[in-house]
Amino acid sequence: MRKNVLITGASSGLGAGMARIFAAKGHHLALTARRVDRLEALKAEIEAAHPDVEVVVHALDVNEHEQVFAVVKQAIRELGGLDRVIVNAGLGKGGRIGTGKFEANKETAETNFVAALAQCEAAMEHFYERQAGHLVVISSMSAMRGLPSTITTYAATKAAVAHLAEGIRLDLMRRKDHDIKVTTLFPGYIATEMNEAAEQEARMMVDVETGCKALVKAIDKEVADAAIPTWPWAPLAPVMKHAPLGVLRRLM
Ligand SMILES: NC(=O)c1ccc[n+]([C@@H]2O[C@H](COP(=O)([O-])OP(=O)(O)OC[C@H]3O[C@@H](n4cnc5c(N)ncnc54)[C@H](OP(=O)(O)O)[C@@H]3O)[C@@H](O)[C@H]2O)c1
Repeated sequence: MRKNVLITGASSGLGAGMARIFAAKGHHLALTARRVDRLEALKAEIEAAHPDVEVVVHALDVNEHEQVFAVVKQAIRELGGLDRVIVNAGLGKGGRIGTGKFEANKETAETNFVAALAQCEAAMEHFYERQAGHLVVISSMSAMRGLPSTITTYAATKAAVAHLAEGIRLDLMRRKDHDIKVTTLFPGYIATEMNEAAEQEARMMVDVETGCKALVKAIDKEVADAAIPTWPWAPLAPVMKHAPLGVLRRLM
């Protein structure tokens, strides 16, 4: 069992939902986010429900890269090592390219990609030292193609983190005698704060609990990658990947 799990972006949505499920399965947790009051409340809730589970929380803005390395090291000391790191913190701000939304697009690009790189570096350093560990990267179904309008930068960052994870997985294929795995997850629509405004997608949206159960199931299996939930996203993935642009534009 990958006992000690660090989750970034654990103050809401998928991060908090996965933390609750992992705690119920007996994992110790290191939870990070900027809204530390929410992390403290989650820690109190988990410790009340599961007294044997150890939870440490840390205020962390993943765009403060030195802090990413420092907090990962601190969590390693506190829990006696990390067995799994879930690169989950992310945001979906943005505007159509060329319409004066550079700052929002840049924040999304930095948070979802450069900061994810820092998290992967910090996690993999530790895993290479121990020759064991599980890196989990939360991408998105939007990674399947370039996408228009407000989601262009977001989709590009999610394709980038998926490629980052795949590159790390290829590095590992050349090394023997280790137990390091890399999982990339591609969630569809899960009802979190991030997509509160996306009412038009309600048909394909699942609630946080359903979404997080599916995420944790795929994480526990340590699959290389998975669309989450499987239905309808696994069959839709190749359609999104290979549809002619005209078809894709009508879908978006
Ligand atoms: N929900 C979906 O349908 C869906 C689909 C595909 C992929 N995803 C991905 O799933 C991940 C979680 O998103 P969510 O749906 O759970 O949305 P959410 O409820 O808005 O949660 C986002 C989390 O990321 C954290 N975060 C954002 N910017 C951060 C920063 N600079 N430093 C540290 N933490 C930061 C937030 O914490 P603080 O604000 O407290 O720092 C929050 O805990 C994201 O990577 C998202 O792209 C979600």
